[in-house]
Amino acid sequence: MAQGVVIRRERAADRPAIAEVVRAAFVRHPDEVALFVERIRASDEYIPELALVAEDSSGVIAHVMLSWVGVEGGSRPRILKLTPMSVRPDRQRVGVGTRLIRDALGRVEEAGEPAVFVEGIPGYYPRFGFEPAIPLGFVSPDPDIPDEAYMVKRLPGFSPELAGRIVYPAFFDVLSPPG
Ligand SMILES: CC(C)(COP(=O)(O)OP(=O)(O)OC[C@H]1O[C@@H](n2cnc3c(N)ncnc32)[C@H](O)[C@@H]1OP(=O)(O)O)[C@@H](O)C(=O)NCCC(=O)NCCS
Repeated sequence: MAQGVVIRRERAADRPAIAEVVRAAFVRHPDEVALFVERIRASDEYIPELALVAEDSSGVIAHVMLSWVGVEGGSRPRILKLTPMSVRPDRQRVGVGTRLIRDALGRVEEAGEPAVFVEGIPGYYPRFGFEPAIPLGFVSPDPDIPDEAYMVKRLPGFSPELAGRIVYPAFFDVLSPPG
């Protein structure tokens, strides 16, 4: 297990270290995802309280952000989306991602938000209680992406009326391919 790992909010001074972690984690499209992180920070959808790092004696080893995406036709106009999620390759598969996601979900629950949406690895997120979003009534933001990639974590306060068409902010276009 990951020893000596602290989870806390990102700070401005962390930004270069976070960019390195993001680039190393998304090695096939480092420029896109690093730019994506900057675009989230520069947007109205950024939530500083839900942009977190995991740190150990070697510095920043992982990073996650939750920010707003739109929902058309649902009872609320927006939902939290977890993206991107990056663990430095030399710290992968020792539980750091698990710690970071559990911590983030705890903060979301404390804030009283009823759900978190994710587009990600179908084999990874169900362990945190994420379940397929399309059967719950959410409509995919991109029909070219397999439906299994879209998952939702229901939290206290979730109601089926929250479901609707997910609409990503325009700056999501920097991701090519989506990730
Ligand atoms: C995917 C990622 C966030 C997981 O974080 P992590 O700290 O390595 O994962 P944890 O140690 O908490 O969990 C490990 C378990 O998760 C699963 N897992 C990890 N990476 C996985 C992957 N790419 N695909 C499927 N399952 C994966 C495995 O079951 C693994 O258990 P194992 O070691 O027994 O095989 C991390 O590997 C990463 O940053 N990858 C590159 C960027 C990325 O793909 N981000 C997510 C996009 S949705």
